[in-house]
Amino acid sequence: MELFEKGRVALVTGGARGIGYACARLLAKEGVALALVDINGDSVKESARKLSEETGTIAVGVAADISSQHDVARMVKEVGDKFSKIDLFLNSAAILADKTFLESTPEEWDRMIKVCLQGPMLCLHAILPGMIERRYGRVVCMASDSARVGQARLSYYAAAKAGVIAMCKSVAQEVGTSGVTLNVVSPGATNTELRQEREASLCKSMGEEKYARRVKNVLRMYPTGRIGEPEDSAAMITFLLSDKAGWVTGQVVSVNGGYVML
Ligand SMILES: NC(=O)c1ccc[n+]([C@@H]2O[C@H](COP(=O)([O-])OP(=O)(O)OC[C@H]3O[C@@H](n4cnc5c(N)ncnc54)[C@H](O)[C@@H]3O)[C@@H](O)[C@H]2O)c1
Repeated sequence: MELFEKGRVALVTGGARGIGYACARLLAKEGVALALVDINGDSVKESARKLSEETGTIAVGVAADISSQHDVARMVKEVGDKFSKIDLFLNSAAILADKTFLESTPEEWDRMIKVCLQGPMLCLHAILPGMIERRYGRVVCMASDSARVGQARLSYYAAAKAGVIAMCKSVAQEVGTSGVTLNVVSPGATNTELRQEREASLCKSMGEEKYARRVKNVLRMYPTGRIGEPEDSAAMITFLLSDKAGWVTGQVVSVNGGYVML
């Protein structure tokens, strides 16, 4: 199945690593040109270089903090100048925090909301007008199953991600006739650096024995018997970003090994 018309251009935030990079790699293999955006400038430039070398596609790395309106305007202009359009937008950039609600502070909520909710909103606000004008666009924002069913110690991350879901559904209704679709992919536990960092700190605080029990308990919650790999989400995202997904909009798709079945 031919997924993409020739000449498609994608902008992927959080593209330096993890699910964002895995998806960029799949898109590149399908012939899509890529702008990878990340707050970690050195790493995103290296990821773009690796991607071009491996797939032969045009890939550029752009350093930007998606929570900064100034950075987002600069990054969209830079990518627009280079490629003259953005057909596909994936927001994968995010941060995580592992604290109970009562341990957390309003300053920490503020940063979380700025990166995980306002960040994709700022990007979408800057990218969407061009898509509407060209009457074509595919948008996927990453949420989390914690936003759908709740998760202890992730309250304000889950709240920000629930906001992303509500925002995407609402905008999908506003732009439905313009050829632009918006969907949300909601992964369960996925083996990326983000998760590895959280697990390492949990292991340190719990001790190895208790942590080993936790790993077993977590796996029991996954009917497929394993946690996810970045490529599991990337496959779903790639389809939702493809030309073939024109009649799929406003949906939240969990890629979670059956962790929750909604
Ligand atoms: N890994 C999981 O288990 C899991 C589970 C549920 C949801 N998710 C979601 O999937 C998406 C990808 O997660 P991942 O595990 O690949 O994460 P990751 O940490 O491996 O990658 C995220 C990237 O975003 C970048 N980033 C962070 N803040 C940024 C900012 N302000 N501006 C620009 N870039 C920024 C980071 O530098 C990093 O390269 C995220 O939205 C995450 O919330 C992941």
